[in-house]
Amino acid sequence: HLDNRVKIVEVGPRDGLQNEKKSIPLATKIDLIERLARTGLSSIEAGAFVSPKWVPQMSNSGQILEHILQRDIPSRTPLTFSFLAPNITGMNDAGAIFARHPTAFETETQRAASAAAGKTTAETTGQAGSKPAFEIAVFAAATESFSQRNLNCDMATALARFAPVIQAAKDGGLRVRAYISVVLGCPFEGRDVDPHRVAELATDLLEMGADEIALGDTTGMGTAPRTRALLACLRSAGVLPEDLAMHFHDTYGQALVNTAVALEHGIRTFDAAVGGLGGCPYSPGATGNVATEDVVYFLESLGMRTGVDLDAVADIGAWITREVGKPHESSVGKAVIGA
Ligand code: HMG
Ligand code: MG
Repeated sequence: HLDNRVKIVEVGPRDGLQNEKKSIPLATKIDLIERLARTGLSSIEAGAFVSPKWVPQMSNSGQILEHILQRDIPSRTPLTFSFLAPNITGMNDAGAIFARHPTAFETETQRAASAAAGKTTAETTGQAGSKPAFEIAVFAAATESFSQRNLNCDMATALARFAPVIQAAKDGGLRVRAYISVVLGCPFEGRDVDPHRVAELATDLLEMGADEIALGDTTGMGTAPRTRALLACLRSAGVLPEDLAMHFHDTYGQALVNTAVALEHGIRTFDAAVGGLGGCPYSPGATGNVATEDVVYFLESLGMRTGVDLDAVADIGAWITREVGKPHESSVGKAVIGA
């Protein structure tokens, strides 16, 4: 049944790794992405075109994009890869790479047409494998303090800078995701972030052409009642659940409870990082994203279909946490591998 389908957006290669102090080899990042692609995950956030002075770990994202465009990455399902771009500098860096491989990816229009026909482009055209589609992600904040720390500018300036990024991405056949960070608590302004402000931002970003709004509980301060109140406020403002994705960090262990609230609200897209990797460099004390293993197990237990092979993801969680020397943060992952 269509209604039972949920999309997991695997953000491990970006959010999961961006905060690591020690430089992770390019080969390890590519290995991680290729392993994830074989598990049935359909969406993978693979890097960020941000300033290398601000987030050095993401500085080889161009090479990752180039690799994805040059190789046929084996997968069970058509893939979408996402990259962050906070400004036109980042978008132009990405755009130059796409321009070198104009036929190596599906545009959003092609992807939508093949989805409507119930076929992959590979089936329609008789090619060997289906080409990936791509998404550019801009990232706004729901508070001025977080906007300043994360983007070095105020909220209005950030929105103005996103406009040409969104335009260029759409012109290039790319999907656009727009994050709003700190929607349920800000490390600098506290837990009571104004939901009406979030609703206004979401409306603005959708009007600017974003295909999806990802609501970031950057600090993990969200609780079930406040998640419910936020989503109710968004709905009153006319923001539909199908235009939303939830991006929970699990700092307070509330991510799955909040996931249940969002699911009841009608949201069907959830971000997660394998092994519970992650943290935002501009959110002191915030821990990783909710673990992909935990989200898959939880959603499947409710009768939802993620299309993701839990055992395969659990193996990757054990491997990558070992590889980067981080504690394994997924309860389900550890139980599945018998650790
Ligand atoms: P700035 O220093 O104000 O930028 O940084 P600027 O425009 O003044 O330029 C200064 C220099 O940076 C120039 O170089 C630019 O070319 C260069 P110079 O002339 O000095 O040699 N530059 C760039 N280089 C590469 N890529 C770029 C870029 N832009 C300028 N895109 C900027 C402003 C936005 C760039 C900076 O603040 C930045 O990179 N911020 C990104 C921070 C970040 O990546 N945070 C983590 C991701 S967001 C997150 O984790 C939250 C999320 O997970 C959701 C949630 O959990 O809530 C998404
Ligand atoms: Mg995050």
